[in-house]
Amino acid sequence: MTSRFLLFGLLLATCSLAFAYDPSPLQDFCVADLQSIVRVNGFVCKDPRFVTTEDFVYRGLNNRLNASNVLGFYITGVTVSQFPALNTLGISLARIDFAPGGIISPHIVPRATEILTVIEGYVLVGFVTSNPVYRLFETVLQKGDVFVIPEGLIHFLKNVGDGYAFAIAALNSQNPGVITIGNDTFGSHPRIPQDILANMLRVNTTIITEIESNFQ
Ligand SMILES: *[C@@H]1O[C@H](CO)[C@@H](O)[C@H](O)[C@H]1NC(C)=O
Ligand SMILES: *[C@@H]1O[C@H](CO)[C@@H](O)[C@H](O)[C@H]1NC(C)=O
Ligand SMILES: *[C@@H]1O[C@H](CO)[C@@H](O)[C@H](O)[C@H]1NC(C)=O
Repeated sequence: MTSRFLLFGLLLATCSLAFAYDPSPLQDFCVADLQSIVRVNGFVCKDPRFVTTEDFVYRGLNNRLNASNVLGFYITGVTVSQFPALNTLGISLARIDFAPGGIISPHIVPRATEILTVIEGYVLVGFVTSNPVYRLFETVLQKGDVFVIPEGLIHFLKNVGDGYAFAIAALNSQNPGVITIGNDTFGSHPRIPQDILANMLRVNTTIITEIESNFQ
């Protein structure tokens, strides 16, 4: 009885895990037709007769981008939107350039696990596990180090070296998405009711007004 129960639980767990990821392809490739007005879960396929080798190449990660902007980092995403051949393949990547001191504030990648490789510099990275444990895993990565951020967990990065830093993140979704905790919480349109935010942060609404004024 107990073992049957366990097996059922295991099956359920396996199913919910499998459903959380991009679906498997039903053909060799489905280069996205980004112009199509048809809406599906992903993009419709370009006619395979018109697909060429060039569709399977993305050229454009060769340049260091100037990360000396207000945020202190610059992310060059290579998701299905920039690279239509990724459609249905459940994969994407990003080049992350950091200015000295650049911080990517706490955020969630809702649809992918992220595997991060530091190519240059020193990058502090950390993630926090879910309710109710809230355990922080944190380390400084350097050139050649690889770190994995499990799907759906809050994480952050910071360039802690003296110079520029550069990393490549690979993700198991064609469209991993990002939830920036600060912007999503305090910069929504319209705003989340202030008493709710005051309750969350255990402060009064005067302080919430002040925080919200930092977000557009
Ligand atoms: C990067 O951008 C900053 C701010 O716009 C500018 O001051 C700086 O000269 C730029 N650096 C390079 C190498 O282009
Ligand atoms: C809100 O909280 C701050 C910090 O505790 C306090 O200084 C301020 O007086 C409070 N404002 C009101 C309206 O209660
Ligand atoms: C947060 O939103 C502002 C606009 O209000 C934008 O300029 C900024 O880049 C966003 N921050 C991040 C980390 O995406």
